[in-house]
Amino acid sequence: MKRSLLKITAQIREPIEREMELFEAKFRESMSSKVALFNRITYYIVNRKGKQMRPMFVFLTAKLLNNGEVNERTYTGASIIELIHTASLVHDDVVDDSYKRRGFFSVNALWKNKIAVLVGDFLFSKGLLTALDKKDYDLLHIISESVRAMSEGELLQIEKARKLDITEEIYYEIIRQKTARLIASCCSMGAASVKPNSEEVEKFRKFGELCGMAFQIKDDLFDYGNQRIGKPTGIDIKEQKMTLPLIYALNNSPQEKKRWLINSIKNHNTDKKRVKEVIAYVKQAKGLDYAVEKMLSFKDEALDILGEYPDSPYKDSLILMVNYVVDREK
Ligand code: IPE
Ligand code: IPE
Ligand code: MG
Ligand code: MG
Repeated sequence: MKRSLLKITAQIREPIEREMELFEAKFRESMSSKVALFNRITYYIVNRKGKQMRPMFVFLTAKLLNNGEVNERTYTGASIIELIHTASLVHDDVVDDSYKRRGFFSVNALWKNKIAVLVGDFLFSKGLLTALDKKDYDLLHIISESVRAMSEGELLQIEKARKLDITEEIYYEIIRQKTARLIASCCSMGAASVKPNSEEVEKFRKFGELCGMAFQIKDDLFDYGNQRIGKPTGIDIKEQKMTLPLIYALNNSPQEKKRWLINSIKNHNTDKKRVKEVIAYVKQAKGLDYAVEKMLSFKDEALDILGEYPDSPYKDSLILMVNYVVDREK
């Protein structure tokens, strides 16, 4: 990672450093099982930790709304989110047939699909039980909605990959469901943990959703690049996943080019040379530029919401977070 980005992530974490450390300890604990094989695998997972952006959103939102104070429920919210997020990645790599995650082999690569499905289920149930244990039914409600949305989003994506009839509107619907809703939950849970039943819960749900939209567009842009991001790139076309750059190129090409693109994705999606040609064409057709433009407009909308709040170190960190969503390098 570039030095400047490292500095920014440290800066974002500064006002929540203590909370993040405590959270990490609780998170590790929350994964334990009586079955040794589960413990071996979850040990493998927690030792390859991700960016932890979701718990950071939970803590920063709670602190922004509550004069810098969090409570037990905020920790519960952060653990629930990271458990569900981890579960969704384990399942996603099965669905996408992907062998790399966070710079190492994915669970399915090491232990095969059967086990990855069960590990994902285990982590999902742990996430939901974490909410139930403390009788935090409002948090359970928020997270359950995003679990449903995630599976609907992933399935809608498969349906569209089969028919290749995706539109820009449907693309937004897919990414809202599979990614943005969970990030929305981070912020609404953070808000609900300190200000239950307040207007802020909905306001921050919206804020998180906008961040999540920008987040997934960025993820889809990575797939068109050659950067080392800790997971494979160039696999979306292989999986016939049509994302915003390609959708834009399709909508803005002459009929004959359109046919070539569709034919490439339908019948030559595993031909490396052909996939490279498609990527080059999408770039030339300004598909990446268009996706960047849309991503930045979601980001700006998110920043507008923060603009309504008085200045504080938490607001500064959230502003940096929103910018990090679109500037990050992995
Ligand atoms: C990856 O999320 C899954 C998507 C929604 C694109 P992250 O990029 O936040 O994953 P980690 O936790 O940092 O590995
Ligand atoms: C992420 O979609 C959505 C979920 C994890 C639910 P992707 O399939 O694009 O995520 P990566 O790129 O594998 O992390
Ligand atoms: Mg994937
Ligand atoms: Mg991806």
